[in-house]
Amino acid sequence: MHPAPSKGILRFVTVSTTPTICPLCHGSGWKPVRVDGIERVTRCDCQLKSRPERLLKQARIPKRYEHCELTEFFTDHDGAHPAVGRALLSAKAFVAEYPVEKTGLLLTGPIGVGKTHIAVGTMQELMRNKAIGCLFYDYRELLKEIQNSYNASVQATELEVLRPVFETEVLVLDELGAVKPSEWVWDTVSLILNTRYNDNRTTIITTNYDDKLAGSDGGVQGAARKETLGDRIGDRMLSRLHEMCRTLRLDGSDFREKYRNASFR
Ligand SMILES: Nc1ncnc2c1ncn2[C@@H]1O[C@H](COP(=O)(O)OP(=O)(O)OP(=O)(O)O)[C@@H](O)[C@H]1O
Ligand SMILES: [Mg+2]
Ligand SMILES: [Zn+2]
Repeated sequence: MHPAPSKGILRFVTVSTTPTICPLCHGSGWKPVRVDGIERVTRCDCQLKSRPERLLKQARIPKRYEHCELTEFFTDHDGAHPAVGRALLSAKAFVAEYPVEKTGLLLTGPIGVGKTHIAVGTMQELMRNKAIGCLFYDYRELLKEIQNSYNASVQATELEVLRPVFETEVLVLDELGAVKPSEWVWDTVSLILNTRYNDNRTTIITTNYDDKLAGSDGGVQGAARKETLGDRIGDRMLSRLHEMCRTLRLDGSDFREKYRNASFR
């Protein structure tokens, strides 16, 4: 057994890792202000400066997407589809207008066209430039975590998993529809999206499925018919999504395929 560290050591550690203590709040995070002659406290400037850093740490952006910034998204490379440029402009306008305009984004399109890049780039700008709290979740992982929470040996309860998803100011839900539909999947998606809708919170969604109603065949029938977002999440949810989000349809070829061997960055 190690002896408990004495208070003296703890104080030494604290002081040595905190080179400068804020002179305004003396480290408390709150600074005094006088409002109508009454002493009150308000968030200290030092907290406002460190807030974006903290938000970025809590946002759960996977390592493989950390590089995704709107400023690093190319729209004039060889073979770039015009829809990709339009989507980038809309994402930038979304950041500029938030939170006056809180309608979210639904990014659709084929594989590798930059849907996740734009979604993550948008949340990074909201955190950095506007200190808005954001959270990234892969749809499959979120459903898996919720399912795991029913397992008695897992510590987190369903509500503990869902609370940040309900409460974050901006949620990025990546790969919506990527889980095989079932009654439970539909109930869970509708709980998440309806809760956020009712609380007037913004959701940014990416999906590989076309923004179309269930069973819309586009002239193609039988096995060749491509599934739609309506097939995967239900038409009622799709219609709710249209109230929550503006659809940005990306198109073009898979950026990964095209530039796999090139050092594009
Ligand atoms: N226009 C672009 N400029 C710079 N990088 C890009 C661009 N488009 C895609 N990329 C990069 O290519 C990779 C694939 O893009 P991304 O993951 O955003 O595609 P996606 O549309 O989400 O694909 P999927 O449907 O497979 O999820 C990422 O590393 C992304 O940063
Ligand atoms: Mg993606
Ligand atoms: Zn301070």
